Amino acid sequence: MAGTHSAAILPQKGSQLVIEKRTTPEPGPGEILIEVKAVALNPVDYYQRDFGLPPVPIYPAVVGSDAAGIVVKVGSGVISAPAPGNRVIALATSFYQDGSPDYGAFQKYALAQSEAVIALPDALSFEQGAIFPLAVMTALTAWTTVGIPLSTKHAPQDKQAALIWGGASSVGTFAIQSARSLGFTVYATASPKHHEYLKQLGAHAVFDYRDSDAVAQIVAAAKQDGVKLHTAHCVVNGALQQVLDVLKETKGDEPAKVAHSPVLPPDHPTLDNTEIKFNFPSMDKTIRDKHMHECFHGWLNGGLKSGSVVPSPNIQVEGGGLAGLNAALDKVRAGVSGVKIVVPI
Ligand SMILES: NC(=O)c1ccc[n+]([C@@H]2O[C@H](COP(=O)([O-])OP(=O)(O)OC[C@H]3O[C@@H](n4cnc5c(N)ncnc54)[C@H](OP(=O)(O)O)[C@@H]3O)[C@@H](O)[C@H]2O)c1
Repeated sequence: MAGTHSAAILPQKGSQLVIEKRTTPEPGPGEILIEVKAVALNPVDYYQRDFGLPPVPIYPAVVGSDAAGIVVKVGSGVISAPAPGNRVIALATSFYQDGSPDYGAFQKYALAQSEAVIALPDALSFEQGAIFPLAVMTALTAWTTVGIPLSTKHAPQDKQAALIWGGASSVGTFAIQSARSLGFTVYATASPKHHEYLKQLGAHAVFDYRDSDAVAQIVAAAKQDGVKLHTAHCVVNGALQQVLDVLKETKGDEPAKVAHSPVLPPDHPTLDNTEIKFNFPSMDKTIRDKHMHECFHGWLNGGLKSGSVVPSPNIQVEGGGLAGLNAALDKVRAGVSGVKIVVPI
């Protein structure tokens, strides 16, 4: 396909996205070319636009990770990909492709690696499909980051519990859904208006993180429930001390594990016998590709088919297509509460 398409280009760090034409790429081995119908926005998108962080290796860049669309062309060597014409969910990110703009989601045609492309169920819209990729991968990678395989299936009598601090965030909602599917009893924190919703997603108990005694409330609940609470995912910034305060009281003499999704500050708090790791997939491509396949073709595809995984959190659709992305990113930067911003393209 030697055509061109419209893309929201990031010309340099700190500039606005601008709409330009780009040459539409051909999918290489193991890749799929997608016509993007909707994108979802993540905090990393405005970090990259406004601060160039994480580092953007190539300008002009095309940022964005979350897409839903239609398969246009499948590259060689792809096994079991949805055929051209099919609706798909795709993690389309230049981040794992040395910054190549062909792979960013914020354009009309994007490349994605087949490990991170699955069928979009008929019952879901493109807008719903777009909210899964990065949040699901981040939620699932948190488990493997602290040595918990995605095949884990605790039985109720194991009494294994997990704390998700930041349950109403986009990543947090999938942390809850995945914790539940791995068999953990889930304790989460969120603003009170989200508590019922997070229980519907699988949280056993939800606590208001603004309560001055939130830590004591969680510790008391875990003790009363008789669970082993040694595992946590700190999804949001600035909450690690509270997470450790909970674990200090609930882990006893056992080792504890914390996955931390925001970048860990060098002087972060610590706790005896507790592993605290920045949540990030392996930089070894072979290991990461296998993990991506497990996340998308395994957990997400299986969960969507069985109905055990649902789109979360609620969707806020913003208009304007590619030209609307700057304003929509400004809304993400201003802060969202229990919603994912999605832009039809
Ligand atoms: N490591 C990685 O690869 C990776 C990948 C993706 C994202 N991330 C990072 O993960 C974090 C979450 O991303 P996201 O897209 O899920 O964020 P998001 O949806 O934009 O998060 C917004 C939510 O955060 C909650 N929140 C804020 N401060 C809180 C606190 N102190 N305690 C509990 N909840 C709090 C709010 O909850 P309420 O509405 O209940 O008040 C709000 O709903 C970000 O820092 C992001 O950069 C990392």
